[in-house]
Amino acid sequence: MSGKRRRLVVEGGERIVDFDNKAFKPIPQAGIDLAVEAMQAGVMYRYQPKTKDASITAKLEKAFADYMGVKHAVGTNSCGSAMFIALNIVDVQPGDKILTNAFTFHAVPSVIEHARAEPVLVESNREWAMDPEDLDRKAAETGAKVLLLSYMRGHVPDMDAVMEVVAKHNLVLIEDCAHAYETNWNGQRLGTFGEIACFSTQSSKGLSAGEGGLFITDNDEYAAKAVLYAGSYERLWKKHFDLDADMMNMLQNQIPGYSMRMQEVTAAMLTPQIARLAEIKKVHVANWNLLHALIADHPNIEIPSALPQVDSFCDTMQFHLVGLSREEADRFIEVARMEGLPMQIFGVDRNARDFRQWEYVEAHKDELGATIANIEFACDLSLQPHLTQANIRTIGQVLHEVLAYINGEA
Ligand SMILES: Cc1ncc(COP(=O)(O)O)c(C=O)c1O
Repeated sequence: MSGKRRRLVVEGGERIVDFDNKAFKPIPQAGIDLAVEAMQAGVMYRYQPKTKDASITAKLEKAFADYMGVKHAVGTNSCGSAMFIALNIVDVQPGDKILTNAFTFHAVPSVIEHARAEPVLVESNREWAMDPEDLDRKAAETGAKVLLLSYMRGHVPDMDAVMEVVAKHNLVLIEDCAHAYETNWNGQRLGTFGEIACFSTQSSKGLSAGEGGLFITDNDEYAAKAVLYAGSYERLWKKHFDLDADMMNMLQNQIPGYSMRMQEVTAAMLTPQIARLAEIKKVHVANWNLLHALIADHPNIEIPSALPQVDSFCDTMQFHLVGLSREEADRFIEVARMEGLPMQIFGVDRNARDFRQWEYVEAHKDELGATIANIEFACDLSLQPHLTQANIRTIGQVLHEVLAYINGEA
């Protein structure tokens, strides 16, 4: 490095990354006020308010359903709970095979395990989305009838091809949209392709409340069952919008309640955030595009392009390290962390997004060479919306400098 340029911290230089790229989004003041009001009144349980119009959770459900353009939303205590409820609703039985991504977060196969079913892991492509050809092959080989499709880190497969496979094998599609807020394929929102979609409101997600989840569907019976599975008993379902009374009376005592309800304080924190999503997306997209322009041409960096039909939320960036040895790639992560830029590689260090770490999953692990190749050198960078364009320039500079250091040029 020239005399004018900052020396890397590892060489005793000054730290210039004085922001936390992973810092979580604050709750908007209106959400804090609503949550405090609920707590001051001692009304935290969603069924405490006398009517649905007084229930923060019921109103949030309605607002989220309207925002997504679907008939029903049901609040849960996590996305994992919403997915577990979904598997119950589509009548998954112990031992059933469920198609899902080989590359996703371990919450997804865990939910399948929770239902005592068996994940069938489908390969991911270079852009970290599900490979429709492998999906087709595995659907045919296993006879699986359910696809739990995870848009991991917002990466979207060729949805036309996926939907063809879904139709061909008569699969029930459940979408895991934990990472796919405000994400479209050909102008259609992800979360509206399947029978059911599940969103997370855990802190790092687009809607953020510490914990929480949202289950959405257009199917009246599925919505009725989701309400009951989540833990509505007696006639508390009356405190939801848009449920069919005859159906609820019929199903009332047939469905077990798993105590997976959303609570009022969670719903309060989320209430003002739905409108914030589109605003946050603008920041994410501008930041992502800038960082892409700064680093995409580096010879050690490969950023696979999304398909042209995809319009992403862009709240994280992934890139493959190319031309580096395992040792050099690991050192890159270590030095970047010392420089104040924490990142992880999906395929190393007991990462929970590496299917080889899921010891509770038996099947297919030895056949997933493409996914291994696509996670082994894949870096994962969080880009929360508080980051300014100046911050993004610093991130770009640090990435260049750390790579120069690793290559012995610095
Ligand atoms: C891809 C993906 N799906 C589902 C989940 C589960 O979300 P939750 O923590 O709300 O259960 C996560 C959690 O981070 C995730 O990363």
